Amino acid sequence: MNKPFSDWFSRPPAHCHDGVYYFDSDRDADYFDESNVAIWRDGRMKRNFHSDFFLNNPASRRLVDHIVGQGVPVVEIACGPGMGLTPSVKRLAPDHVCLATDASALVIEEWKRYLDENEAVGNLELAQFSLMDIPFRDHTVPAYSSYIGLSSTRSGEEGHERALREIYRTLMQNGFLYTVETTWTDTEAMLRVFRETGKTPWSGLGSDHCAPTWRERFLHTGFEILSEEIFESRTLTADDNELGEASEQLGIEIGVFSKAYILQKH
Ligand SMILES: C[S@@+](CC[C@H](N)C(=O)[O-])C[C@H]1O[C@@H](n2cnc3c(N)ncnc32)[C@H](O)[C@@H]1O
Repeated sequence: MNKPFSDWFSRPPAHCHDGVYYFDSDRDADYFDESNVAIWRDGRMKRNFHSDFFLNNPASRRLVDHIVGQGVPVVEIACGPGMGLTPSVKRLAPDHVCLATDASALVIEEWKRYLDENEAVGNLELAQFSLMDIPFRDHTVPAYSSYIGLSSTRSGEEGHERALREIYRTLMQNGFLYTVETTWTDTEAMLRVFRETGKTPWSGLGSDHCAPTWRERFLHTGFEILSEEIFESRTLTADDNELGEASEQLGIEIGVFSKAYILQKH
């Protein structure tokens, strides 16, 4: 791990391999296995790394342009097999200093393998850690980026709050959070998929009390919202997560509504 990231850690990693820090956070990660790895190796990571998706959508493009304009090191959280906004940042500014992170060791190992074998990209580091317990010191990180990283955390509302508190704690004063987040409004369809697959619904889903919006969560954490824009309104797919996979198999459509945010800590 190189500077500046190596200077920000508040504790040593559980292990380090090939310059990548691993903080043993798989318990918080999505469950991935060899079948996922086979898909990633069969062109998915390459496609994701070279995708124009975030550059062509005006709402995410605004986030990427702002990141590049600031020029400060940026940490991608819950990067998953798409790596969120980072590939788009590297497309516009190949030297931009980026760290892609996820709670899953497998995701990080596979990105390391893919990048080493396929891309001559510099200033792109990798680390495994959970958003629930970010291993950075207070007030160190200039910017975080994410594509549905917060929406992907487990433990329902408590998980969202914990992850946001961790991001806020570790951001520098005037630091930025660039994120596209999903609001689940189609709870009836989601509960039907959980029922039919015999899985336990996500915590808080379908409960009587109204879940806060992302806007409310961000303001409650202390962020200033610099911009909030509709990113997309579509149907969940197998590419998104296990729920999307099950919904496709069952033929039950789940609507997804996402917004892109630029947030600042003061
Ligand atoms: C659907 S992906 C999010 C999309 C992803 N940003 C992309 O561009 O492909 C979900 C990812 O979030 C990760 N994740 C879930 N909870 C997490 C947490 N608490 N901390 C860090 N990563 C987490 C999972 O391991 C998984 O890789």
